[in-house]
Amino acid sequence: MTEVEVWWGRIGQVREEFAAELDPFERQRHQAYVRPEDKARFLLGCTIVRRVLASRLALPPASISLDRTCPNCGKPHGKVRADGVELSVTHSGELVGVAVSERPVGLDVEKVDPAIDIDGLARLSLAEAEIAQLVTAADKPRAFLRQWTRKEAIVKATGAGLREDLRTITGVPEGMQVIELPVDPGYSAALAVVSAEPPAIQTKSAQVLI
Ligand SMILES: CC(C)(COP(=O)(O)OP(=O)(O)OC[C@H]1O[C@@H](n2cnc3c(N)ncnc32)[C@H](O)[C@@H]1OP(=O)(O)O)[C@@H](O)C(=O)NCCC(=O)NCCS
Ligand SMILES: [Zn+2]
Repeated sequence: MTEVEVWWGRIGQVREEFAAELDPFERQRHQAYVRPEDKARFLLGCTIVRRVLASRLALPPASISLDRTCPNCGKPHGKVRADGVELSVTHSGELVGVAVSERPVGLDVEKVDPAIDIDGLARLSLAEAEIAQLVTAADKPRAFLRQWTRKEAIVKATGAGLREDLRTITGVPEGMQVIELPVDPGYSAALAVVSAEPPAIQTKSAQVLI
């Protein structure tokens, strides 16, 4: 059975002292964020990853070795990787999510934002048939974000990210499972996992790590 833990935190849970657990790359990225909410989202994502792995290995969070190397440019802004486990991090609005599994995973959350240019984004990310469906949707922003988070979760599971043309991803790729996750009202979230069978998902609150 494929098991996936999905940890959810809120930026209100962040404390400045968590930054002491960051490695030098993370510390540099944390310091470079200008907006306090971007800083908080990034720091909480790092903290959840480090503390979940630390508790599994009975090691201090700061001693966990993470690799964020981008395959494109070598900078430490790529998918987060650790020995012996698969991870995916996502943040939007108040929420920060981390998926942990033995199989490759992709997690994406998006806050419903009435100001987003849905038609523009739909043209860039949806296939013709999907755009046609969207036109008739009762709640267009939500319907769009359901599609978008599913596609993002898929490309985050493979590690391709937005280098992949989202318009070509229709349905569920072979050998993958894609699940919409219940989150706060006003948000949409999806999980993709490379697995032949539907995963057992355990939802966890980051509160217990803090
Ligand atoms: C990854 C990506 C899909 C994230 O989209 P988003 O909705 O803006 O942001 P999210 O909060 O959901 O996800 C961010 C997390 O994705 C992870 N991530 C980064 N690149 C990733 C990739 N290629 N595959 C999977 N996950 C990735 C990181 O862990 C990041 O968290 P961090 O801030 O703690 O480092 C998108 O930013 C992307 O594709 N980026 C890479 C595009 C690329 O290769 N550009 C060239 C860079 S040189
Ligand atoms: Zn890069």
